[in-house]
Amino acid sequence: MISKSRDALSTAVSPRLYSINRPPSLTAFKKLCSEETLTEQYPLSAAVESNVPIYDLLNFDSNDPATATSLQDEWHHILLSGPGVFVLRHMYFDTAPLEKANSIFQKIIDAERSSSSKGDHFAHHGKNDRIWNSFSKHGLQDPVSFVDYYSNHWLALVSEAWLGPGYRVTSQVNIVRPGGDAQTAHRDYHLGFQTTEECARYPKAMHIASQFLTLQGAVAHSDMPDGTGSTRLLPFSQRFEEGFMAYRLPEFNEYFLSKYVSLPLKMGDGIFFNPALFHAAGSNQSLDIIRKANLMQISSAFGKTMETIDSLILIEQCWNTLKQKYDSEGLSYGVKAFVSAVADGYPFPTNLDRRSPAPGGLAPETQQQTVLRALQENWDKQHVLNILHRIVEDSEA
Ligand SMILES: [Fe+2]
Repeated sequence: MISKSRDALSTAVSPRLYSINRPPSLTAFKKLCSEETLTEQYPLSAAVESNVPIYDLLNFDSNDPATATSLQDEWHHILLSGPGVFVLRHMYFDTAPLEKANSIFQKIIDAERSSSSKGDHFAHHGKNDRIWNSFSKHGLQDPVSFVDYYSNHWLALVSEAWLGPGYRVTSQVNIVRPGGDAQTAHRDYHLGFQTTEECARYPKAMHIASQFLTLQGAVAHSDMPDGTGSTRLLPFSQRFEEGFMAYRLPEFNEYFLSKYVSLPLKMGDGIFFNPALFHAAGSNQSLDIIRKANLMQISSAFGKTMETIDSLILIEQCWNTLKQKYDSEGLSYGVKAFVSAVADGYPFPTNLDRRSPAPGGLAPETQQQTVLRALQENWDKQHVLNILHRIVEDSEA
């Protein structure tokens, strides 16, 4: 065996891990975050405000594939290489589904208020209401409203732009009353929910990869004028490779507080950002405006969602509404968007003894494919549920 000198060993390759003893460079971070967003780079945007591209979706037909692809190309570029965040004005052009959802959310909040066991990882009790897993609770409480809300084609397009197909939607409602505090600057799931010490155990490459596993977003369920605490954002900060090691350090937080931007939103607007972007909810300094948002965390088929979704119960609840929608619209973009939101679009993990790949394919049929087939072949509700239950059971070890 050939023994190598200590020097030869240390120079062979660079360390795979970041060291918690070597703080990231604030100078490099400042340089990165001083970039400017060029309007010419995103020709479909209506404006660039505070370095954030704004799209007015009233200008576009989501059903036109060429338009959709061009928008998705711009959105993907913004998230990956650009400022990391964009606003979709009029994502819900008709705000009636949001009004309806608000009334359902209030019912859920009232019912949960008696429980004191719930926690919120940022807010103090009293100024803030939070519904964890509002996605599932909405669907169980009012399937008609749920189908209407999640049939939004723009939601499908923006999710696919970053994550590709097979994504999973989870959401949480956040309601902040006047006087509600700001959050501290942070990055989001996956690595954003680990301690610095835990982050330091993951290879540097995973610090980059983490951003590709989630799309972070919010739909405004109330107007959010200046002063109500619309999300604070630091454009371009998602590109800082050591960001998960940096965001808790006081000097990075100070820089965030001196440089962040925030944009007023109208009810029905959406905002989407790379989960590695430094961001924080602002403080609600208004006297009488309650800020309401449905926070969306959309997961790659290759990641793990932070919350559990029981698709079968939701499909069971929503089947009649979905079937009626299909019968009147056919396989519309809205129907497909809803199926993408509610059913699992990825066939693994599974049990390959029981679920062999489809003939000529490499993967067994997914829940989404099954639901779409059931609609097109006019299966009755019990049959589709039986098949979906069998998929779940056969996938177990
Ligand atoms: Fe966050």
